[in-house]
Amino acid sequence: MNMIKYEYLLDGSNKSTVLSDAITLDGVEFIKLSNVNDTPETRKKLYELVKEGVIDDPGQNGIFETFDQFSKKIFGHYWKNNKTQFLATYKGEWIGLCSITIDKEKKVAKCGLTVVKKRYRGYGIASYLKNLSIDYCRSEGLLKMVTEVDESNYPMMKINQQNGFKRVT
Ligand SMILES: CC(C)(COP(=O)(O)OP(=O)(O)OC[C@H]1O[C@@H](n2cnc3c(N)ncnc32)[C@H](O)[C@@H]1OP(=O)(O)O)[C@@H](O)C(=O)NCCC(=O)NCCS
Repeated sequence: MNMIKYEYLLDGSNKSTVLSDAITLDGVEFIKLSNVNDTPETRKKLYELVKEGVIDDPGQNGIFETFDQFSKKIFGHYWKNNKTQFLATYKGEWIGLCSITIDKEKKVAKCGLTVVKKRYRGYGIASYLKNLSIDYCRSEGLLKMVTEVDESNYPMMKINQQNGFKRVT
């Protein structure tokens, strides 16, 4: 496993390029985790999404926690940072997530998991979510975003490059 590092400087030299009309599936909506209540149903929806992303990410080991373990160990991170969990929904189903964590002192955002459920891939949803996260970081006055991608993850590398992330290793 070889991780490639990227960064995105929020100094005005980069402008978002992906618009909502680039999404080729009608009816997709975008919310944040902070727009919903913490209920067993929303936890389950988040769990299913995170699980699919982690299991499918070539940069991970293909193993994921049970729902109970997720609730105890992992959910707290997402909920604490619920303003920076960008979600795509379709007819009530949660189909995409782009997660970032902000270090306020350093003014740096670290990109976490980006995932789109398999049958909804290729519609530009991940790119759009990525752009929402970039716009948010810009509006918060951050300096940069950093991310790491497994060298075999071509879709994710493409999304980063298309959206202005520059390779640093
Ligand atoms: C990576 C992932 C989020 C992409 O979601 P998506 O909504 O299908 O992505 P988009 O439709 O926005 O764009 C994907 C881009 O990658 C391209 N792409 C898709 N598969 C590709 C491949 N095998 N090789 C090269 N490019 C590929 C698409 O053509 C598209 O580019 P385009 O806009 O020029 O057509 C999705 O594949 C996924 O959930 N993967 C599993 C989890 C994961 O690995 N996440 C990343 C690590 S955190």
